Amino acid sequence: MTQDTISLVRPDDWHIHFRDGDMLKAVVPTTASVFRRAIVMPNLVPPVTTAAAARAYRQRILDVCPAGSDFQPLMTAYLTETLDPDDLAAGYEAGDLTAVKLYPAGATTNSDAGVRDIRRVDATLKRMAEIGMPLLVHGEVTDPAIDIFDREEVFIETVLKPLMDRLPDLKIVLEHITTRQAADYVASAGDHLAATITPHHLEINRTDLFRGGIRPHLYCLPIAKREEHRLAVRAAAVSGSPRFFLGTDSAPHAVHAKEAACGCAGIYNAPGALSVYAGIFEADGALDKLEAFASLNGPRFYGLPVNETTVTLRKTGWTVPETVTAGKHVVMPYHAGETLDWALD
Ligand code: DOR
Ligand code: ZN
Repeated sequence: MTQDTISLVRPDDWHIHFRDGDMLKAVVPTTASVFRRAIVMPNLVPPVTTAAAARAYRQRILDVCPAGSDFQPLMTAYLTETLDPDDLAAGYEAGDLTAVKLYPAGATTNSDAGVRDIRRVDATLKRMAEIGMPLLVHGEVTDPAIDIFDREEVFIETVLKPLMDRLPDLKIVLEHITTRQAADYVASAGDHLAATITPHHLEINRTDLFRGGIRPHLYCLPIAKREEHRLAVRAAAVSGSPRFFLGTDSAPHAVHAKEAACGCAGIYNAPGALSVYAGIFEADGALDKLEAFASLNGPRFYGLPVNETTVTLRKTGWTVPETVTAGKHVVMPYHAGETLDWALD
């Protein structure tokens, strides 16, 4: 018999971009209506680099949550070579910061202030290891000589493995993994390393970026890889391993910024994210593993409590909006206008 209802502990999104201003107002309620908590990325302009800035940003997020919402934004600081370790530690202690995000300088959207030489932040990372504060990693090298499809694999070999050798106690999340190498390494590297997996990297490969013409709304970083990599990442997601958990990397950009001569990286997947994940786990015969991936493995890794309420998904069909309005602009969601099988009650 096929299953047409599934109840889960309410999930969390361990990787989201909310932006600021009109965009923030447009996108926060969508995530807050599905997820109890979300790890909020700090790549604003200028980036969130202090506990005070994170506190202020959290308040701007709470200010646009619907009345009665119990959504909890978990804030991150943007790692720079000049970040103050005492401020980070105090922010972590006070609950204003949950983690620190490493962007190699130039790796992606708003990453110019990121890290050029990881050795220059070793003292900060050492302090984080001491207090148990996780490092969230955009795992791509930025050397223009390295092919864009190889940047994650090279990062693992040249940056991540040496970092884990230097600081074996540092808790690390390798964000939005896209390769077999990442899936294999995370599965086997011990319990200080985990990974988030996006809905889109479970569905699309690099050929999909060019299906019938160039598809700017499927462009994100790390870029989608060959089919063999998609399958390996997908096998990891549905495996039930506690090292893998839900992180949408929902990253809204206005349509005009995506459909441009030089289009921005980022996929706005928040509206359909949970439905997409459910469809994937169902297709792979792993609906019984969805709750661990979406709701249990993340809090366990972060050392946070599991949520106390549940959500129910039903196979009644749900149509993703064609567009979402953000002030004067529109954003096109992932699967815009398509009907997904699973609907959230
Ligand atoms: O595609 C992406 N978009 N990847 C990132 O790492 C950043 C994000 C954004 O902020 O738009
Ligand atoms: Zn991201």
